[in-house]
Amino acid sequence: MSEELVFQPSADAVARTRTTAEQYEALYRRSISDPDGFWREEAQRLDWMKPFTKVKNTSFEYPDVSIKWFEDGELNVSANCIDRHLATRADTVALIWEPDDPKDEARFITYRQLHEEVCRLANVLKAKGVKKGDRVTIYLPMIPEAAYAMLACARIGAVHSVVFGGFSPDSLSGRINDCGSKLVITADEGRRGGKAVALKANVDAALESCPGVETVLVVRNTGNAVAMKAGRDVWVADEAKAVSADCPPEPMNAEDPLFILYTSGSTGKPKGVLHTTGGYLVWVSLTHELAFDYKPGEIYWCTADVGWVTGHSYIVYGPLANAGTSLMFEGVPSWPDASRFWQVVERHKVNIFYTAPTAIRALMGAGAEWTEKNDLSSLRLLGSVGEPINPEAWLWYHKHVGKERCEIVDTWWQTETGGFMITPLPGAIPAKPGSATKPFYGVKPVVLSPEGRVQEQVKAEGVLAIADSWPGQMRTVYGDHERFVETYFSTYKGYYFTGDGCRRDADGYYWITGRVDDVLNVSGHRLGTAEVESALVAHPKVAEAAVVGYPHNVKGQGIYCYVTLMTGEGYDDALKDELKQWVRKQIGPIATPDLIQWAPGLPKTRSGKIMRRILRKVAENDYSNLGDTSTLADPGVVEHLVENRLNR
Ligand code: WT7
Repeated sequence: MSEELVFQPSADAVARTRTTAEQYEALYRRSISDPDGFWREEAQRLDWMKPFTKVKNTSFEYPDVSIKWFEDGELNVSANCIDRHLATRADTVALIWEPDDPKDEARFITYRQLHEEVCRLANVLKAKGVKKGDRVTIYLPMIPEAAYAMLACARIGAVHSVVFGGFSPDSLSGRINDCGSKLVITADEGRRGGKAVALKANVDAALESCPGVETVLVVRNTGNAVAMKAGRDVWVADEAKAVSADCPPEPMNAEDPLFILYTSGSTGKPKGVLHTTGGYLVWVSLTHELAFDYKPGEIYWCTADVGWVTGHSYIVYGPLANAGTSLMFEGVPSWPDASRFWQVVERHKVNIFYTAPTAIRALMGAGAEWTEKNDLSSLRLLGSVGEPINPEAWLWYHKHVGKERCEIVDTWWQTETGGFMITPLPGAIPAKPGSATKPFYGVKPVVLSPEGRVQEQVKAEGVLAIADSWPGQMRTVYGDHERFVETYFSTYKGYYFTGDGCRRDADGYYWITGRVDDVLNVSGHRLGTAEVESALVAHPKVAEAAVVGYPHNVKGQGIYCYVTLMTGEGYDDALKDELKQWVRKQIGPIATPDLIQWAPGLPKTRSGKIMRRILRKVAENDYSNLGDTSTLADPGVVEHLVENRLNR
């Protein structure tokens, strides 16, 4: 039904766009037929300290996957995001910071101030012995210091690993140890929805199992008392006073690492996705400029957390590379009430607003009246990211937030892709609610049958793969190149496999249908079923656990757990609550199970493999069509699961 709905670009969007429909088609064709020529030109948008002579040197051939872009060029990301704007835009606001509590003051950081803050912090890092190539873990709330910390690392060539402030001490220590950080940057506490988040205390707990960490830099944020360990913990402000306000940017090779960001996969522990310097910055700055049709002076707000890739690419690096004004929000959409987002839009006259479907659905549930209390006339363009947006939520967003006036861009991409891959360009590509529309320049999507046959016809359905490299692509899994090759390039040889299913309609529009692997998307956050399972079985009373996703009205997907207890343990409701708290404590609040079903037995094949397909069906309440169950070791198990299913 929704395929029939097409929204043509408004006259305003057409009048201002830098890309017409014809230009998009022509440039897209050129980007595919002549990637070297295309990217040689586009890369000139950055300041290179040493110009590159080579453009693309990439191979998807299994097992020799290797990806290099602009490989003999040199540049510095922080110089591109700050220094080069100083001559003409030193007094332009780079970051607007809106606090959690609307009664507190907003902060406005100009490019000149940003330069000083970043230089001082970079010098503090140097004084603490951080050198080019060293890893630094950042565990901060949504405060400007998070951006300073990232840019300070980039300035001296240190590789940052930002860990989302909602992750537990266990998750944090795993990430610190995996990349071998010797230094952690954190804050006393964070704030969210009127509550304090004990960041420093979490770091202290995490560091009990991180022998390699020598220094903790602490930002004073809430000002509440926290423990400081002598010889290890220091206040950033004290250190910053003692160093110079100038720090020359380190010349970096285009392929030097910029950051590591951990993300969940279908198996094992989260992987350290590694992004490098040149290609990544070309990609995020170009996609940010074109998909939002961004012009300096406009107020741009992405509601993501810097702990996720969206925050890296589209709060910090993309907007700042474009000399933009990027709004950073510490709070949540629902506190003090459901008009909080719209108060912020009115207060700062936001032009471009970029958020996730889960937030839109939650606000939709609160009622459209909350969108009526504030002046939203500054808005020009709305964005969506993180999961497929259901057409109902798209239409609500369009009507109540965009007042049927704003363009909507639905941007499909992944931590691994660095930036947008499939997205409309406003003014050039008509929108269809629920479709991310067409590929960005240089992106060659293919639809494969599950067995790996390329679907040549336009109208097709299958899994989504990408046929060739693009500059923003991840280069490796930190410390484990084989895992990178096996995860993304071994299922369908010659292609990058996204893990998503998709449809392509007769107009060549892509419709992402969600993950086809054991990765959950809970409120736009990625979570491996295996991570939740291993947290559950770590509980002394749990013998076995299987975790699947199920459709959830607000979160997109909820977490459904089947749990078998040790012999002799009592199956009672109090234990369910205990297990929910247990998982929350092990991984973080985003991993809290929604439903736990007691399963005295799990459906297994005779060789002992859990049949997840059946578990998914039961969790979806679609048990009438369980498919072939003839290979089950004990068919009676399924009956018990169906009878006791929780999502009715
Ligand atoms: C997965 C990647 C990309 C930044 C946030 C999430 C899903 C993301 C869309 C969209 C449909 C989407 C996919 C993808 N996804 N954006 N616009 N339409 N699905 O990054 O945590 O790496 O998750 O999010 O399933 O594979 P991530």
